[in-house]
This record gives sequence, C-alpha cells and structure tokens, in this order.
Amino acid sequence: MEPWTIGAESTIYRLEQWGRIVLLKHRPQKPYLLKAIDEFLRTSRTSRECKMLTVARNLGVPTPMVYWVDMHRHYIAMEYIQGKQLKQLVAELAADRLQKITCKFGKLIGLLHRGGVVHGDPTTSNVIVNQKGDIWLVDFGLAEMNATVEMKGVDLHLMKRAFETTHWDHEEIMWSAALDGYRTIHSDETENVFSRVEEIRERGRYH
Ligand SMILES: Nc1ncnc2c1ncn2[C@@H]1O[C@H](COP(=O)(O)OP(=O)(O)OP(=O)(O)O)[C@@H](O)[C@H]1O
Ligand SMILES: [Mg+2]
Repeated sequence: MEPWTIGAESTIYRLEQWGRIVLLKHRPQKPYLLKAIDEFLRTSRTSRECKMLTVARNLGVPTPMVYWVDMHRHYIAMEYIQGKQLKQLVAELAADRLQKITCKFGKLIGLLHRGGVVHGDPTTSNVIVNQKGDIWLVDFGLAEMNATVEMKGVDLHLMKRAFETTHWDHEEIMWSAALDGYRTIHSDETENVFSRVEEIRERGRYH
C-alpha cells in the first residue's frame, strides 16, 4: 500500500475499514539503531501514544479515537480527522482567524498541563484544523504524565520555538494568542510555568 505521508518516525496509511476511513500509523524499523533499542523505542512509543490519546481526550482535548493497536508490529489504527495541519494554514489564514485558532491550541495545551500531562512535541504540524475551525491534537508518542513545572515549561518553550522557526513572520501574534488561551485554563501553576519558560530561554541563551 502507498503511504499517505511519511513522518520523522512513522509511516502513515489511510484505508477504509468497516465503512470508515482509518488512519494507520506504523513505526518502521530504523536501520541505524541497535535492534534491541529500536524495538524498545517502537513498542514504548506505540503504547504511550495509544494510552495518551485517550488520557488527553478524558481531559477534554479532542484527539483521534483509537480503533485498535498491534503492539508487536507497532501499528495504531485511529480515527482519521478531516482537516489540515495548522502549519499549512498559517500563511493563508486571516490574522483574526489565526489568532482564534492559536488561542485554542494554547487552551488545549493548558488543559493537558492542568491534568498533569505534557504533549512532548507541540508543533503546528501536530494540530489539525477542520473547516469550522475546530482543532485536534495528534502525535502523542512523546507525551508524559505526572508532569512537573519544568516539563510544562519545556513543552511551552518547544511550542514557542516551533513558532519562531516555522512561522517567524507570525510568531508574536501566535505566541501571545497561545498564552492567552493557556491562561483561560485556570490552574495554580500557570504563573510558575510562564516564569519557567523565561528561565529556560535564558538558560538556552548562555549555553
Ligand atoms: N488521526 C489523524 N487524522 C488526520 N491526520 C493525521 C492523523 N494523525 C496524523 N495525521 C497527520 O499525519 C502527520 C504525521 O503524523 P504524526 O505527527 O503522528 O507522525 P510522526 O511520525 O510523529 O510525524 P512527525 O515526525 O512529522 O511529527 C500529522 O502531522 C498529521 O498531519
Ligand atoms: Mg508529528
């Protein structure tokens, strides 16, 4: 079968099963890794992704539904979300729409964090936007539970870095919209997380 898209660590197929479109995410072997390590990483990320897609949804974050998983062959079959990557939309969206959608993105990260979860790779290619402007988060293979303030700070820092490197011409509006969204999710830790992001940036500057 022809892959639908090839990511950094996975090959994605789209197929029809039981009358619906299913997205199949496969983590293939990486020839340059030691076999035992590769096997361990593929299994643990597949298992983590499956679990965290559901944990996130229980926190109120829209994620694709998991249909089935094959842990030995490293496949996850999940709901196909009809839409586009936020990454592809940034350049063509009007400023107010971009602001609204990025604000929602920040809000979803805030919901995860309040629930003790970090996404691990909060870039704009892992956000799917439909026609109506509803958004979903995908790619939970690096997500973690029991997150500390440091882990949350790193998560937001990664988001900011993604805006800087991929959307440098919209960076300011996106970062401030994301923080506004994040702030709407009230948590005792919010201010600590924000100052930690600053600290992490400072650390980066001198190393
Ligand atoms: N359930 C889904 N519905 C629709 N599109 C999806 C779904 N899951 C993934 N995609 C699309 O496929 C792309 C790659 O998926 P994903 O990010 O999970 O894999 P990855 O190998 O980690 O990719 P990368 O390394 O490029 O981040 C996503 O950016 C998204 O555009
Ligand atoms: Mg991805």
